[in-house]
Amino acid sequence: MFSRRLGIDLGTVNVTIGEREQILLHEPDIVAITIEEEKIVAIGQEARDMYGRTPETIEVMRPLRDGVIADYEVTEAMLRYFLDKVMGGFRLFKPIVMVTVPYGVTSVERRAVHEAAIQAGAREARLIPAPLAAAIGAGLPVDTPTGNLIVNIGGGTTEAAVVAMNGIVAASSVRAGGMQLDQAIIDYTRKKYNLIIGELTAELAKINIGAATDIGEEMRMDIQGRDQVTGLPRMITLTTSEIIEALQEPLEVIASSVKKVLERTPPELASDIIDRGMVLTGGTALLRGIDVYLTQETHVPAFLADDPVGAAALGATRGLERIEALQRATPNI
Ligand SMILES: Nc1ncnc2c1ncn2[C@@H]1O[C@H](COP(=O)(O)OP(=O)(O)OP(=O)(O)O)[C@@H](O)[C@H]1O
Ligand SMILES: [Mg+2]
Repeated sequence: MFSRRLGIDLGTVNVTIGEREQILLHEPDIVAITIEEEKIVAIGQEARDMYGRTPETIEVMRPLRDGVIADYEVTEAMLRYFLDKVMGGFRLFKPIVMVTVPYGVTSVERRAVHEAAIQAGAREARLIPAPLAAAIGAGLPVDTPTGNLIVNIGGGTTEAAVVAMNGIVAASSVRAGGMQLDQAIIDYTRKKYNLIIGELTAELAKINIGAATDIGEEMRMDIQGRDQVTGLPRMITLTTSEIIEALQEPLEVIASSVKKVLERTPPELASDIIDRGMVLTGGTALLRGIDVYLTQETHVPAFLADDPVGAAALGATRGLERIEALQRATPNI
């Protein structure tokens, strides 16, 4: 009764924690640990700032891969740290949490997330498929018989799902998201300019000047890297058109998840979706022109959610208020 109720979006790149209608925490799920003793040095934003800059004795790692736990102990420690941060110092009651999991996780992967949340200090932990949480958080009428198409484009995965009557009717998940876009920029500059650039630099270029398709604006950015031949530092200038060119391959994979889910959608719901369009959530939904790009590729209009980054965490929070309704469609929530 006195427990706080928190929604946790446990992504590959970021952890977001919400309570009621508020986002309390949004941090990278990155942990810095010493290699020999496996002692945690830093977690979250602090660890991210160390990325690519640590001595040999410290490893900066992501405990989740493709949305599922890759390193259990580190995930648990990280979750405990984030929960403590949100709960503040003194507390009598453990929180009740609802945590997002990718659509189509195995029962072993589910159990790992549940266990990690409990070990990290939750009194009770519920698991909700991320696309369902994103749809609820984006404010779609998921409890009606109307079909809603949600496309959650995250850091490591894109999940497209049709949601109706509080459950997922059809879904498709692909391993392509923001990290694959960053990698495509790294590959592009290496091939075209013989320049090796870091992941954070590639991400910055994507965010600062990147786009999915021609947006009628050409931006430029100076990029620092290391020459592949001489090994010396060198600078080049990248343009928006170049980033667009670099991103086409992974973007096609992202679009394919939407096409696949459309193929799997029952005809009665397909007409709803053509009328209402698709709603985009996740950090990569912020890429310029991705709505236009997906509309061109799928012939279904795409719209950005109000808070694409916070949607899944907000949806998980709201999910805690209607567990019974959700369980009718998805018994293992
Ligand atoms: N303005 C922006 N433009 C383009 N990409 C962005 C922008 N802001 C954030 N991103 C990208 O969003 C991604 C993170 O999205 P998000 O937080 O939704 O991922 P996640 O939920 O942790 O991952 P997943 O859902 O795949 O497990 C990163 O790759 C980041 O580069
Ligand atoms: Mg996500």
